[in-house]
Amino acid sequence: MSNTANLDWGNIGFSYSKTNANYVSFWKDGAWDEGKLVKENTLTISMSSTAIHYGQQCFEGLKAYRRKNGTIGLFRADQNAKRMQESCRRLLMPEVPVEKFIEAVKLAVKANEEFVPPYGSGATLYIRPFVIGVGDNISVRPAPEYIFCIFVTPVGPYYKGGMSMIKLVVSEYDRAAPYGTGAVKVGGNYAASFLPHELAAQEGYTDCVYLDPKTHTKIEEVGAANFFGITKDNVFVTPMSPSVLPSITKNSLLYISEKVFGMQVEERDVYINNLEEFAEAGACGTAAVISPIGSLTNGKKKFIFNSETEVGPVTKTLYDHLIGIQCGEVEAPEGWIIEFE
Ligand code: PLP
Ligand code: COI
Repeated sequence: MSNTANLDWGNIGFSYSKTNANYVSFWKDGAWDEGKLVKENTLTISMSSTAIHYGQQCFEGLKAYRRKNGTIGLFRADQNAKRMQESCRRLLMPEVPVEKFIEAVKLAVKANEEFVPPYGSGATLYIRPFVIGVGDNISVRPAPEYIFCIFVTPVGPYYKGGMSMIKLVVSEYDRAAPYGTGAVKVGGNYAASFLPHELAAQEGYTDCVYLDPKTHTKIEEVGAANFFGITKDNVFVTPMSPSVLPSITKNSLLYISEKVFGMQVEERDVYINNLEEFAEAGACGTAAVISPIGSLTNGKKKFIFNSETEVGPVTKTLYDHLIGIQCGEVEAPEGWIIEFE
């Protein structure tokens, strides 16, 4: 418990800091090796790796939380493991078994225990597992070898100000094609989002909203998070689309809204020209947690949710419950938390 003395947990923001150790496992000739912790945060790979040239790579994002009782908790890590398998299948990369993924995450977190921010600080330990195609290659084909890595880094809120209202604009660009890779967590989707995000930021917006790539009439994603809205008659609504990343946070909110708060929930089309149906809206994801949306601008039209500056009551209730589960203040549904010392 020494390396963290200089970290100001309340003000660390969403940025990378090097920690004690990282996890690395190699795949060759049809099998993953045992995997091990390494001190360095660099990789030496062939210049001709498919990850570099053809975007053959995928990643995950999850968090470790310091809980009220002092233990460390992982939130629905099995869901991240399964989603990474989907991403690997889509890019013809070898899948990491769920057990191996979870054990590797635990190993990486335990080796960096002093970087798990204190309970109540608002900060968490962000965990970034990834798989990359490596080895000598020039053809447009899957790599001969792969690396599965995990690094961790303490983070604060993804959007400045945490639970403060975000200001969004509809992007004219798409992040994913109709039958492309939008539903998996692969780097190319994110590279495609840099320019739209930058244009939105230059105009003073927090982030941008992507519409469905086929008709540009329905909401798909909010930057690197899913969208949800609370209708005026208290229904939790979130877009259903084959090019949206199936968010684990979104799925958890669907469950909490329905099972804990008895709300009606709907996964369906959300038309950009019908935002009047919503009293509140938010972006949800591991990094974004729940970021309440104050306004959404589409061309010359600006739509305001709640009062634009005040977090809506349903959004606040869902946020408190989700954080409560993650930090051990509220009972979690069966199997949602992996807890260790
Ligand atoms: N959508 C995109 C494009 C994302 O990058 C993320 C982040 O992982 C999410 C949604 C939210 O997913 P999750 O709640 O599983 O973190
Ligand atoms: C996450 O929420 O884990 C993400 O991956 C979003 C972003 C930091 C890429």
